[in-house]
Amino acid sequence: MLLDDRYGRVATDLRVSLTDRCSLRCSYCMPPEGLPWLPKDEILTDAEVIRLVGIATGLLGVTEVRYTGGEPLLRPGLVEIVRQTPVHTSLTTNAIGLSRLAVPLAEAGLARVNVSLDTLDRDRFVALAHRDRLADTLAGIEAAAAAGLTPVKLNTVLMRGVNEDEAPALLQFALDHGYELRFIEQMPLDAQHGWSRDNMVTATEILESLSGFGLTPDLSTVRGSAPAETWLVGGGPARVGVIASVTRPFCGDCDRTRLTADGQVRNCLFARGESDLRTPMRAGASDAELAALWRTAMWGKLPGHGIDNPAFLQPDRPMSSIGG
Ligand code: 5AD
Ligand code: SF4
Repeated sequence: MLLDDRYGRVATDLRVSLTDRCSLRCSYCMPPEGLPWLPKDEILTDAEVIRLVGIATGLLGVTEVRYTGGEPLLRPGLVEIVRQTPVHTSLTTNAIGLSRLAVPLAEAGLARVNVSLDTLDRDRFVALAHRDRLADTLAGIEAAAAAGLTPVKLNTVLMRGVNEDEAPALLQFALDHGYELRFIEQMPLDAQHGWSRDNMVTATEILESLSGFGLTPDLSTVRGSAPAETWLVGGGPARVGVIASVTRPFCGDCDRTRLTADGQVRNCLFARGESDLRTPMRAGASDAELAALWRTAMWGKLPGHGIDNPAFLQPDRPMSSIGG
């Protein structure tokens, strides 16, 4: 059994949100005061997460798991969940707390991390994330590299009038340390619904601002279902990626399926609906029954997100509870 859909796509990459809470308040994601968090009894237990991941990998052909949030490092059982994950496992994180957790996570089998880093300037970090934690993030990134959670990938969202001038400095930082930087076009996923197409820094603009680095297309990588288009820096081997989720959507090649912290399958970040696995699981459903529900959820996946369509509606949930 596979998680295929009516457009011929097969989901093999599972994103699991382990908590909707976060240690930061990045403006493209959450308001400074935070959000009404999910009630504890609705959040999957560690055993429930491990069971559903086991169904996805054992019965449904999932070959890769990425744990996200919110901030997955806030989940007390994270190391054990990683240890019990039978396939290639990575983490999307803000790296706060990684100085302590990088080694235990690596020992539990974590392969690598993606770290969100939007600025190298302390004041800007505070303005952007509403917490004075840049030093903790940088320490966490170093700890990840030292623990072998490599390649360390850095994700940057550029915002007009906030950090759009920082693309070259961030790329230089990544080159100096051997990290792989990827710029992500800002998507309409903030809880405050503040996104606007006009305000978004586009992939074209990002590439223009990096013209001094002598970027050439990286012909060795086929984009496929990898959302980043990559460029060689100064002839290589260093590379930089741009994820043009809005201006060059890659939905036709999408291989993702998502599980929220409260046990709902989402067939797309931008899906209008979701499919509840928690209630049937707690009512005693078998692995085969849960697998069948998951397949049905994915079969209904739409061909694309339609962000550029005037009728586009932002999902009811913010990114922090869907999982990046
Ligand atoms: N648009 C683009 N990327 C986002 N992320 C979070 N919210 C948004 C958004 N609105 C990114 C974070 C992190 C990953 C989980 O997704 O920077 O790297
Ligand atoms: Fe996949 Fe949805 Fe993202 Fe498109 S928008 S790439 S379908 S998750």
